[in-house]
This record gives sequence, structure tokens and C-alpha cells, in this order.
Amino acid sequence: MATELAHCTQLTPSGRLRHLLTLTDMSRDLIEELLERAESYLRPPGEPPARDPVLRGRTVANLFFEPSTRTRASFELAAKRLGADVLNLDVNMSSRKKGESVLDTIYTLQAMQVDVFVVRDASAGIPELIAASVEPHVSVLNAGEAAVSHPTQGLLDLMTMHQHKGRFDRLSVVIVGDIARSRVARSAVEGLQIMGTRDIRLVAPPGMTPDEKLYPGTTITSDLDGALPGADVVMALRIQRERMTEKAQMMTTHEYHAKYGLTAERLMRATPDAIVMHPGPMNRDVEIAGDVADGPQSVIVQQVTNGLAMRMAILAMVMEARRDR
Ligand code: CP
Repeated sequence: MATELAHCTQLTPSGRLRHLLTLTDMSRDLIEELLERAESYLRPPGEPPARDPVLRGRTVANLFFEPSTRTRASFELAAKRLGADVLNLDVNMSSRKKGESVLDTIYTLQAMQVDVFVVRDASAGIPELIAASVEPHVSVLNAGEAAVSHPTQGLLDLMTMHQHKGRFDRLSVVIVGDIARSRVARSAVEGLQIMGTRDIRLVAPPGMTPDEKLYPGTTITSDLDGALPGADVVMALRIQRERMTEKAQMMTTHEYHAKYGLTAERLMRATPDAIVMHPGPMNRDVEIAGDVADGPQSVIVQQVTNGLAMRMAILAMVMEARRDR
């Protein structure tokens, strides 16, 4: 249902990005355009950041109904560097706490001439619901939807892999951690498969194994040491305790690190030039050893830099697509 709705509303009639709800129906060409545009917003360290007045006079509202550091800060900076006014709704002080529905919140802000809503929510389907309800000139960007989708993270991860590895078709990618509850894994796999990656190995500890129907064409295993040989990219994921509804029989963090943590010793099983990724926030010495996170193969800081550039690209492209509506 959510995917059908997204399919109806995400792209303009000429295939341009009206909203960003999911990567599932995006074309390789559109992703390549986003990667190229995001690259154009990168600047060397120490230089002033890129600016582009494409959103001058426009308003972007950040509505984060779940915690965030990276996504929220980078969307705010991205919108400001594109010339927009930015509203960061303080959810804990908003009228949703008094029972106002999410759509009434949206209609209220839309009446203040918001052009783009950036939305993170713990419930599945909320970005699609909002996209189906806003006025035609308004865009909705999914900044993290339950365990379903995190498309801007998926795009910044593709950008980072592309910078280091060039092509996607011959990549071997290992993703290890709480796959069952990870929207990052969902979007990364969707994006990689669109770009032609065939060798995707998902390493899920017990209790974290995803529904295999959600991950067609991947290898799902619980054997990290067996999955690492030949890997070009190794992405570690946090345990998503906030999404655990059942009283999970969790191993201790020490046991978890011993069996599933990405350590320097384990990383030696991957290709010598494998890159190490993590979407953040990290739990050091649980899913990833501190020395690996800070080590020469880590591109974790670069993921953050790319996240800002990618969010600038997305905002710019939805604004430019307004001509098609
Ligand atoms: N990767 C990510 O979404 O981080 P935040 O929760 O800090 O936004």
C-alpha cells in the first residue's frame, strides 16, 4: 500500500523527483543525477561551503518525531546553504503533544507557506500519507521511516561507495548488525540493487534476521567471519533497541562484540582496500571497534560530509522539478 502510494506520488509525470519517499521506484539515471549533483556541492576541507540560491525565498520545515543528529543537522544546513528559511519544529513542545494529528500539523504549517517537509517518524507510511495530502507544489522528504526506509541515507551511502570503488556492478558488500530493524539496510540494499550490485551479504545475529522476502537477491547469514572474505565494503549497524517490542533474549554487549563486532582482526578477512562504513550513531566497541571506526579504512566521517551534500542535491532537485507539476 505504502509503496503503491509512493509510486503514484514520488515522481513528476516526466520522471523528476517531486518527493523522496523511497528508493524502490527510482531509476539508475535519476540516482546518477543525484550523485553528480551532490558531488558538485563538495568543497575541500577548510574552504567555505558550497552555496546555491535555488531555494531562496522558500521554506523548509524539519519535522523529526524521532531523535536525530546527522540527518536533522544536515537537512538544516543544506536548506540554509540553498537560501531557504528553515523551521525546526520542536516536537516535544508542539501541539502533537496535545493530541493534534500529524496531518493537522502539516496543514497548519502548509498554511504558513512551507514548501518542503522533511519528516522522520517511528510509524510506517507517514511520509507517504503526508505526500498524498499536501498541495501540489509542496514536497515531502523521508528522513527515516520506522524500519522501512531511509532513502537519503541510502543515497549518501551510494555516493560514498562510488567515490571509493567507482562502479557498483562488481562490488561485494557486507552489512552486519540488526538487519531486521534497520531502515538503513533496506535503503542501502534497494539503492545498490538499482545500481547493479549483485553480491550483497547480510549478516544478522540471532533475533536480528530479516524477513527474506524484503531482501530478494541477497545472501542472509549469521556467520560474519564466513561473509567477510572478498568484501569491498563492510557496513556495521547499531542494535536498534528502540524498535525491540519483544523482550529480546539479547546477548551482552561484550558477547555481541566478540561474535559480531567489526574488529581489526576480522576486517583483515575482507579485501585489503575494503572500506568501513557506519551510518551513525555508533556504539563503539559493540558493533564496531573504536580503532576500526577511526582507522585508515573507515569512511564514516566522509559519510557525514556526503550526507550534507546529498541533502542539498535532493532539496535542489525537488525545487527544480516544480516546473514539471
Ligand atoms: N544515520 C542517521 O540517520 O543518523 P541520525 O539518527 O543521527 O540522523
